[in-house]
Order: sequence, then C-alpha cells, then structure tokens
Amino acid sequence: KILILDFGSQVAQLIARRVREAHVYCELHSFDVSVDFIREFNPKAIILSGGPNSVYESDYQADPALFELGVPVLGICYGMQWMAQVLGGKVEGGHVREFGFAEIRARGHSALFRDIQDRTNEQGHGLLEVWMSHGDKVTELPPTFKLIAETPSCPIAAMADEDKNFYGVQFHPEVTHTIKGRDLINRFVLEIAKAQPSWTMPNYVDQAVQKIREQVGDEEVILGLSGGVDSSVAAALIHRAIGDKLTCVFVDNGLLRLNEGEQVMNIFNKHLGVKVIHVNATEQFMGHLAGVADPEAKRKIIGREFVEVFQAEAGKLPNARWLAQGTIYPDVIESAGAKTKKAHTIKSHHNVGGLPETLNLKLLEPLRELFKDEVRELGVALGLPHEMVYRHPFPGPGLGVRVLGEVKQEFCDLLRRADAIFIDELRAADWYDKTSQAFAVFLPVKSVGVMGDGRTYEYVVALRAVQTSDFMTAKWAELPYELLGKVSNRIINEVRGINRVVYDVSGKPPATIEWE
Ligand code: XMP
Repeated sequence: KILILDFGSQVAQLIARRVREAHVYCELHSFDVSVDFIREFNPKAIILSGGPNSVYESDYQADPALFELGVPVLGICYGMQWMAQVLGGKVEGGHVREFGFAEIRARGHSALFRDIQDRTNEQGHGLLEVWMSHGDKVTELPPTFKLIAETPSCPIAAMADEDKNFYGVQFHPEVTHTIKGRDLINRFVLEIAKAQPSWTMPNYVDQAVQKIREQVGDEEVILGLSGGVDSSVAAALIHRAIGDKLTCVFVDNGLLRLNEGEQVMNIFNKHLGVKVIHVNATEQFMGHLAGVADPEAKRKIIGREFVEVFQAEAGKLPNARWLAQGTIYPDVIESAGAKTKKAHTIKSHHNVGGLPETLNLKLLEPLRELFKDEVRELGVALGLPHEMVYRHPFPGPGLGVRVLGEVKQEFCDLLRRADAIFIDELRAADWYDKTSQAFAVFLPVKSVGVMGDGRTYEYVVALRAVQTSDFMTAKWAELPYELLGKVSNRIINEVRGINRVVYDVSGKPPATIEWE
C-alpha cells in the first residue's frame, strides 16, 4: 500500500484516486503524522501532495525522518519543494505564478520519464504536456539529485535521486490535464515502488466479507437503510457476509420520492433476501412538521424524529450488537485543508449518520476505505441494479426541504408526482446521467391559468437540474427547451393542482442547489 501525505492540496484526493486506479491500495493522511505512524503503516512508497503554502514560511512540515525509511518518495509541487528544501536544495518565491498548461522537456535518462512522452523534438528529447500551478520553485537541486525535466520558465521541473528512488515533479500528474499523468503515477507506483496491483473489486469483496465475519462473529447487526447509494451498498455487502444476522430498518418519513419504499423493499427484501423492517412513520413526521416553515427547524425535526423511530426499532432487536453505517472514505479523510479552513455551515446536514451513542452499539463501517466511484462499482458487483447505484444524491430531509415553507402531505403528494415525471423524461432523453442532480421543488404560491374554458388558480413547481463535480459549486444544466417543454406539459396535464412550471437558472454560488 501507498501512503499519501496531504499538505493541503485541493486535489490530494485525486492522487489517491489515481493510485487506486492503478489497483494499488492507498490512504491519504495529514502531513504531520509521526514517523512512527509511517513506519507502522509500512508503505511501499510515500507520495507528498501539493499545497497552498511556501516551504520557507509555513509550518506545513512533515517529519524529515521519512526520508530515512528506505522507501521511494514522490513529491508533487509543494511536496517536491519541501523535499528539495529538507534534502539540501533551495526553493525561492517565483515573481510570477505559473498556472496552466506547460510543455516540459525530459532531460537525461530517468526511470520516471523513460518512454513516457507526448512527442519528441528534433533533438530526440521527450516532451510532455503538463498542468502547472505554483508560485515558488526549486532553484537549486539537493546534492544527490539530478535534473530530469525542465521548462523555459521552470528550469527544475522535475528532479530525481535514483539511488534512493526519490522523485520530485513541479507539475501535477494527478489531474487529467496532464495527459500522461496516469502513466507517470503508474510508473512510480508499480515499477519504481513495485507495489502489487491487487486492489481489484473481486479481491475486495472477498476481503471485505472476510473482515466483516471476523469483526462481528455471531453477533447481530442493525442498519438504517435509506435507499441511497452508500447505505444500500453497505447493506448488500454485510448481507453477503452474514446473511440474516443483518436487519435493516427502512424508515418511510413521508418525504421520499414516488414509490421509493416499494422499490427498496423489492430490491432488498424480495430480490436479495435481506431482512428489512419497513416502518411507515409518515404521520409522526407530518405531525411534528405541522406549522413549521423554517428550513433549519424542519431539518432538526426530521433528524430528531428519525433517531427516535430508529431507536424504537432498535429496541425491538435486543440481540443487535452492531450499528452499521455507510460511511465512505471522503467522510473520514482528515485533510490538511480541513484543519485550516473553518468548515462553513450553510445548511445543517442531517443524515442517517447522526445516531446517538445511547444505542450502545459498536460501529460497523465497511465502506470506510472506499471512494464514491468504488462504492458504486462494489454495488454493481454485489448485484444491485445499475439504476439504484448510479442514482443522483437525495438529501436526508428529502421532500421536507423541497416543499418550501410548511410541509403538508398534500404538497408532498403533488411534488412526488411532478418530480417523477421530470426524472422519467430526463432518463428518456438521456439527460439523467449528464446531470449531477435534478429534482422538482414545490412553491406554495398560487398563480392563475386557463384550462379548457375554465380559469385555474393553482400551485407552481420549479425544476432544478445542475451539473457539478463536488456539489460545492454547480452550474444549472442547459436542458433542451424541447425537453423542458415536454416535462412542463406532462406535469400540468397529469398533476391536478399544478398549473405552472418554471426552470431554475441560478448557479451555485450564489444560489444553493436545494431551495432550502
Ligand atoms: P446545497 O443546497 O447546500 O446542496 O447546495 C449541496 C448538496 O447537499 C445536499 N443537501 C443535503 N443533504 N441533508 C443531506 O443529506 C441535508 O440537509 C442537505 N441539504 C442539502 C443537496 O441535495 C446537494 O446534493
């Protein structure tokens, strides 16, 4: 396995993704882990990420003892600068920041660049298109290092001490803009560090099943199944490991999408044979939401009631010793970035995650090591339908934050039907997978319309569809007018009570993806 030390780069997770794509297991840890931790981790190689700081003025310093472990090291951007500084080279602030494409020229012979190039120049030097993003640069090589790549504006674009297998690159091989970046990472991980490419899904399923069996033994496990990707895949995996020692609790809070409860029961209970307790708690949730219009207050109520219902069900399973959750790797990475950036709460997110310790159960989190795309791959490998595994995310509070203002059963019913039509048509037009999230929002205002000979005075539905890679920023999807027209027609004709449909053309920021 490979250890990646995160110096606060925005793209540190991408390094981990690329290493995993080379079928090598890796973990991302903060730059300041102790050298004892590293020794115990026993990595085949260490990769030092980029970061936003300057080596000569920051306290972003890892323990230099890591260079004495006899392990190959690849430093990327800041990682290379830190390596150069610690090993006796020199780093200086650039007067110009370099940001964007650059073409580097490989120099001499190096194991890293050998036969990896986009083209060659007249002198036979390999040239590579890379992505640069830096202010500082290495201006003097550490004593034992040689130059292995240069650009006109960055004379030391890559360096190596090949006896020790230390490499530094000023550019970013982990981003897709660096065309041969994947090859470079594979070269370092598989050939230079000689890591075994054993991280494959079939291997993983076997190992994970084994591990769950060892961990829980004969004890029983309880899991809150939401129908979302993570809890679904966790349920399927745990079921594969321990069969009916697993009980899932599916809480229908009345705020789910059309037929969602049925679908979950069909897939898990009928198809996979998983024990699922289906709790219909619609009345309880609606009762507590009556008269409440504030979005944050609604979120709190929905989160609290979920815990309450779940706890009551858990109480009926006295033999359960474990609480399983679909926590995934991005939820647990303690990144260097997160340490400095103060997490800014714009909306409080209440997920199945917030179950209290008073349940007195041990935590089982079998997806803790996986990235989202790996979770999806695992889901397919476990026999979950593609449609479920590649579904858009759905917020924990569900329609509770998509019916604006006070939530009423009648509004939820209208919204559910409008939303289903929208999603249907998106799929039919092949737009579902081209959007990251799409849904309808219920606006509790009435507007005037005509239908046949009569005047109508009914509610409005807004359609929202966005494209994003991280949900932190998003752009509204430029859906074809024809598609929007069709969705609008169908909703107004088929959903009695809605006589107007509008499309949301706001980006995030300044708008958020959800309306509440
Ligand atoms: P916003 O609206 O903040 O949404 O731009 C970003 C992403 O988060 C989801 N979201 C939630 N998820 N509980 C959740 O589990 C919540 O309270 C919540 N609010 C927003 C939203 O659907 C989008 O994917």
